[in-house]
Amino acid sequence: MHCSSAKAGRFRLLALGLPTLLVLGPPAVFALATGGAERPAGAATVPYLDPSLPVAARVDDLLSRMSLDDKLGQMTQVERRYITPAEAGTYRIGALLSAGGSAPKPNTPEAWADMHDAYQQGALTSPLRIPALYGVDAVHGHNNVAGATIFPHDIGLGAARDPALVRDIGAATAEEMAGTGADWDFAPCVCVARDDRWGRTYESFGEVPELPSAMTSLIDGLQGAEPGGPASVLATAKHFVADGGTEGGRDRGDARIPEEELRAVHLPPFREAVRRGVASVMVSYSSWNGVKMHANRDLVTGVLKGELGFRGFVVSDYQGIGRIDGKAGLTRAEVAQAINAGIDMAMVGAKWKDFIAGLRAEVADGTVPMARIDDANRRILTQKIRFGLFERPMADRGYLGTVGSAAHRALARRAVARSQVLLKNDGVLPLRRGAKLFVAGRSADDIGMQSGGWTITWQGSPGKITPGTTILEGIKQVAGTATKVAYDRDGDGIDGSYDAAVAVVGEKPYAEYHGDRPGGLALDDEDVKTVDRLRASGVPVAVVLVSGRPLDVAPHLAGWNALVASWLPGTEGAGVADVLFGDARPSGRLPVTWPRESGQEPINRGDGKDPLFPFGHGLTYGGAAGGSGRAGSG
Ligand code: GLC
Repeated sequence: MHCSSAKAGRFRLLALGLPTLLVLGPPAVFALATGGAERPAGAATVPYLDPSLPVAARVDDLLSRMSLDDKLGQMTQVERRYITPAEAGTYRIGALLSAGGSAPKPNTPEAWADMHDAYQQGALTSPLRIPALYGVDAVHGHNNVAGATIFPHDIGLGAARDPALVRDIGAATAEEMAGTGADWDFAPCVCVARDDRWGRTYESFGEVPELPSAMTSLIDGLQGAEPGGPASVLATAKHFVADGGTEGGRDRGDARIPEEELRAVHLPPFREAVRRGVASVMVSYSSWNGVKMHANRDLVTGVLKGELGFRGFVVSDYQGIGRIDGKAGLTRAEVAQAINAGIDMAMVGAKWKDFIAGLRAEVADGTVPMARIDDANRRILTQKIRFGLFERPMADRGYLGTVGSAAHRALARRAVARSQVLLKNDGVLPLRRGAKLFVAGRSADDIGMQSGGWTITWQGSPGKITPGTTILEGIKQVAGTATKVAYDRDGDGIDGSYDAAVAVVGEKPYAEYHGDRPGGLALDDEDVKTVDRLRASGVPVAVVLVSGRPLDVAPHLAGWNALVASWLPGTEGAGVADVLFGDARPSGRLPVTWPRESGQEPINRGDGKDPLFPFGHGLTYGGAAGGSGRAGSG
């Protein structure tokens, strides 16, 4: 990324240091420290540090200088809690990461930048001073950072059907990341969610390949038109492959599907991501027909790198290599299987030294050929040079002011409005300014509930977890002073004097397997009671469902005057109010089929089953009877 501050010069010394020292001698280093461009006339720089040379030439030169220690280190990504900056240099570590919620204390953008730069300065003490990447799950904004803009989760963006909007969200996310030093985003998830009982359904743009394929536009936003330009971060297409096709929607389970289905349903989004030049691909924890993806050479090397021509690097999922044999711990055999399958970088936690030692042993005995090690390093170093990491290794603090900026929040609010899907409406919507309204529900006034998992912490949590606008606050803002808005979480206090009621209910936050619901998708009793309390008053009730997926609403729907699928909107709840009051006409369309009851799962477009609402369903205001016309379909 682009260091825009005067301090950049000081950091360039670190980036240009030792090799230049060998070539130029100490006096010149201080000239270089002021910023490269003042390089003394005629001074040579080792080729791999020369940005005027082609990427391939720089990689060839660097590879020729690297020891086995350098190469093994580059293939290792370590979670920040298990390594010090000094160790990052000693072991020549190629990348670090913050797993979900792994934040500095205090959790501020500046503290993130300081943390990143400390690790980077450590990494740059390695003999060849190869800068390290820093990866994060910025899957709906820079969501580990308090105060960052939290955008709608992917399922809502799939409902919006707008690749340009998703690209812009990627660009905004990249700016917020650049300020904090995070230069590698483990996004987009291009999974195709086929069974809504899966805990990661909300991380999918939809149940058909064309939606995740279209939304790979996020890659263009994250990486920028020119990778390595200002606020350009590496994107990751994940999780390769068919993570959304497992039996019963079990996270990290087994996709027992024929190759024809794997190719037709789950592979196309990766083909599109590769076409867009995605820098990395993350392998899935899941299996295909009993074979762990982390050990599947045919698919990782044969299909992804061979058939699709992927030239970036493949990263394991977090500690995914140690899960190959289904037992705890990381073995040499698993290391060899994963690297020989085509994984180029291991994402590991506490056992990172075991990984390096294991790989060293497997190389020594010839199980892992040196050619595989060199190929992995070539792929990793090509992306580091392509993204300008050697020239600009430190956080670009000029972007710190974009974190949670008004412009980004305005973009998020527009995305929230575009993602709302009007499923039913007898005319109670749009709400009328000047009316007397009652708002209830456990998700109405709760940033944590409306943001879902992967927000500040891995699992997310209810409560005031980060600055933003709750749906209730949005309703009050958009309604204006002429409208009376009463609120009670449980609906207590409502009576027949109100013109309409809004119940904002849904799911508590979760992530990954914690969200698997093999037992069904029924509404929580608390939510049913809240809506029934409102209905008992005789006041028309509009239900706003804040959830990561379709839920079993059929048993209740007849008594609801309107239903809006709000998904997981993030911090800008006013976008929901914009639709409820008609300032934005509902335009969202279902990215997933809505079952009559979860016993129908998996249920998808074209499978001949009879859903409650079909894929593509979405109403709008005006037009046909009941005050709702179609927002379109498909
Ligand atoms: C997780 C997820 C993956 C994420 C990684 C790093 O377990 O499967 O999506 O990018 O670990 O947090």
